[in-house]
Amino acid sequence: MDYQQLIERLYQETKDLAASGKVASYIPALADVPANSFAISVKTCKNELFNVGDHRIPFSIQSISKVFTFILAFKIIGPEIWNRIGREPSGSAFNSLIQLEIEQGVPRNPLINAGAIVVADILVSLIKNPKQKLLEFVRSLADDDNILYDKGVAASEKETGHRNYALAHFMKSFGTITNPVEEVLDLYFHQCSLAMNTDQLARAFLFLANEGTNPFTKEEILNPSRAKRLKALMLTTGMYNESGDFAFRVGIPAKSGVGGGIVAIIPNQLSIAVWSPPLNAAGNSVAGIEALERFTTYSEKSIF
Ligand code: DON
Repeated sequence: MDYQQLIERLYQETKDLAASGKVASYIPALADVPANSFAISVKTCKNELFNVGDHRIPFSIQSISKVFTFILAFKIIGPEIWNRIGREPSGSAFNSLIQLEIEQGVPRNPLINAGAIVVADILVSLIKNPKQKLLEFVRSLADDDNILYDKGVAASEKETGHRNYALAHFMKSFGTITNPVEEVLDLYFHQCSLAMNTDQLARAFLFLANEGTNPFTKEEILNPSRAKRLKALMLTTGMYNESGDFAFRVGIPAKSGVGGGIVAIIPNQLSIAVWSPPLNAAGNSVAGIEALERFTTYSEKSIF
């Protein structure tokens, strides 16, 4: 398969489709990102890397970070995590409050905001300097020490993150959050502000395409059973209330962020990261989904 030729074709075919989406503006710092940014990176288990477009430009990974924090917590407490968070698709918006009241403050899954805030609470309880630990973890996964938090994005989100404050305080009233809300959200806002490019994201997620082990260093990040569970979660919940439609159209585990990034896995083969900031109503990149749909269609590779 000539992946370079394939992603260049996808780039040409889908770059203009972004025009029907809207760049996230509820976090003011995200609104300044050029709407026509577009990048695709593919990293294979054979150590090949293919890039097209703005693949060197770091962007705010936002909710993609929910996978990194989940892995850190899952590595430490294992299946105990399911005593604190569910593992069902939410069927509601990523920042919805309504389901939480009905379900007594227990988030549906770790990849929606409420679930990721509980994961942040777990990390605050277990790790002395969780922001530093998370940064080191992401750098090691991507094999790149240049990855940083974007302090401007973190501050912008702290200032305007009223919904996340509402979610955290609401869960604290149920006892689901055990640490001070400020401390938990400080970690959450920082994780969302992690700035990475598609190239770094594809590298950071490749271990999931190799049953949880980095194919080059041979380091086991998650054992095969836990890697399987995480990929299943990504498939069923990684695109929020659009996860079913994404599975239908694209057919691979993925995770999106409101910065316009999406990272996805084809087991035993490759990871792919796309970035195009304009979003659809569910908060997912319009051109990114199109590019991934055509990727699995033209290459005839999906998990189905
Ligand atoms: O908490 C928020 O609303 C954002 N920092 C992250 C949301 C997000 O990326 C949802 N993605 N589609």
